[in-house]
Amino acid sequence: MDKTIHFRIRRQDNPRSAPYWQEFQIPYRPEHNVVSALMEIRENPVTTQGEKVEPVAWESNCMEEVCGSCTMLINGKPRQACSTLVDTLTEPIVLEPLTKFPVVRDLMVDRQAMFESLKKVKAWIDIDGSWNVHTGGPRISPQEWEENYIYSRCMTCGCCMEACPQFGPSYPFVGPATLAQVRLMNAHPTGKYFRADRLHAIMGEGGLSDCGNAQNCVEVCPKDIPLTTAIGELGRQTTIQMLKDLFGPGR
Ligand code: SF4
Ligand code: SF4
Ligand code: FES
Repeated sequence: MDKTIHFRIRRQDNPRSAPYWQEFQIPYRPEHNVVSALMEIRENPVTTQGEKVEPVAWESNCMEEVCGSCTMLINGKPRQACSTLVDTLTEPIVLEPLTKFPVVRDLMVDRQAMFESLKKVKAWIDIDGSWNVHTGGPRISPQEWEENYIYSRCMTCGCCMEACPQFGPSYPFVGPATLAQVRLMNAHPTGKYFRADRLHAIMGEGGLSDCGNAQNCVEVCPKDIPLTTAIGELGRQTTIQMLKDLFGPGR
């Protein structure tokens, strides 16, 4: 038999049904990534036992590791299917949905919990439209810009949330990606006006103190976001905020 690529895929028909496994083999081609291999399986969804089945469902969009939608467990590690080359993986290649978010179908999960956490901490900059387009808004130094840019690369893929032992459906923790966005928004010259609101949001249950400092998050982030550095900085910011709350005006 010609060389093939062997996949073992965890399937689930709907959010309430039981998961099950199916195996597929496709002809070997160099430079297949996991998404292109899944596309090939979709063209002819027949298992290695010869059973014709429903095509595997997954999400993908940008195909260049920018949108985060194709994130899944690949051989047990959370990563992007579009940028994971099949040639770098041991076989059978095991594909599973992320475990910290509810399964929608097969490899598709609902990451709404991440977006709810971002809403909880006001992870945005309020623009009041008062900046004149010619004079521009407040200046940001190249050093600050460079430091902040790293955090702005977050694509809400959920890898860090998957790896974090404190994050999950039964825990209130907002998770490392959300905390990193608090660090980013608080550093912005306009965003800082809501710094106290963001800090208060992470000073209670589900906030900063829920982090057990296991450092798993920073190891899996595909964008090399210094999550634990952000968590350390927020520790200092929340301490100052606590003192302000006790002895002075809130902001
Ligand atoms: S350092 Fe904190 S946020 Fe990161 S994985 Fe550990 S517990 Fe989770
Ligand atoms: S911080 Fe990194 S791992 Fe976490 S969601 Fe953002 S890009 Fe993904
Ligand atoms: S398809 Fe966008 S990150 Fe993979």
